Amino acid sequence: MTTDCDSQVMTSEKITVPALRARKATRARGERIAMVTAYDATFARMMDQAGVDAMLVGDSLGMVIQGQGSTLPVTLDEIIYHSRAVVRGTRRAHVIGDMPFLSYQCALDAALQSAGRLVKEGGVESVKLEGGREIAETIYRMVRMGIPVVGHVGLMPQRVHAMGGFKVQGRNGDDAESILEDAIAVSQAGAFMVVVEGVPAELGARITRSIDVPTIGIGAGVDCDGQVLVSYDLLGLNDTMKPKFVKRYEELFARGVEATKAYVSEVRSAAFPAVEHTFGLQKASAANANANTTTAANNTAPSAPALPSAEADASIPVTEAHAYGPTH
Ligand code: KIV
Repeated sequence: MTTDCDSQVMTSEKITVPALRARKATRARGERIAMVTAYDATFARMMDQAGVDAMLVGDSLGMVIQGQGSTLPVTLDEIIYHSRAVVRGTRRAHVIGDMPFLSYQCALDAALQSAGRLVKEGGVESVKLEGGREIAETIYRMVRMGIPVVGHVGLMPQRVHAMGGFKVQGRNGDDAESILEDAIAVSQAGAFMVVVEGVPAELGARITRSIDVPTIGIGAGVDCDGQVLVSYDLLGLNDTMKPKFVKRYEELFARGVEATKAYVSEVRSAAFPAVEHTFGLQKASAANANANTTTAANNTAPSAPALPSAEADASIPVTEAHAYGPTH
């Protein structure tokens, strides 16, 4: 069903930085920003068709895709590789590339170079950096270069060791003030959106009221201007944990196990592949093949299954091989 809100937000036009920035003012009309992570072209197509506004090629790919214990080992080249795939699968949503650990913290020039590579080689339309006041200058310089930046404050996974684990931040007064100051600093430096992760809902709301660009919450309460979830979490593809802030809209891991069990069983029993999944020869060759099969069958036992006819093949409305390439 399409609502009034959907019709305002759901155009087929590419979502731009100014359009996202402007959603701060229109959130009261039901235009909160829906963002997800994506790491490949197929997921990007799925999420894009569902109407998400922004897709983040997150360094969470280190944990989700690579099976690492944190985001720290992820390299810039890996983010670029996944960004290219996501960009190929996306028509409408804005695509953000995450800057991985050590790609922007050590030196300003190196940070600008890394951000530039993400845009130039990865094809992303903006970059995201974790950090507060200490990276405001870096954000300012990127924005001046023409690279739109998304900030990220609160729980910053690249600081997992300093935080003593993936823990909610800003639960006491001083910490909350510090996170608020960070959010203000990165927005004033020119970030056009700020991800606020793992903070009490009251702090998420306060940050949202205090800065003039949209906040995107993840475990930061309902008052942020938008929300982001890891796509694998929202689809229930994560079988190892379920963080409190995650809502699963599907149980695809469990369904995938069941579907694959059915496949295993059909392969073992030879129920798969059936005739409709099987290629045949052209007519003349099929006649020869069948003759050969008959001869062979007369000479050997047990007999081979009859090949499907060329006519049957021609009626199959599928491609002859994998066709996962670009659709646009
Ligand atoms: O890397 C990531 O996926 C993120 C989001 C969870 C915000 O930074």
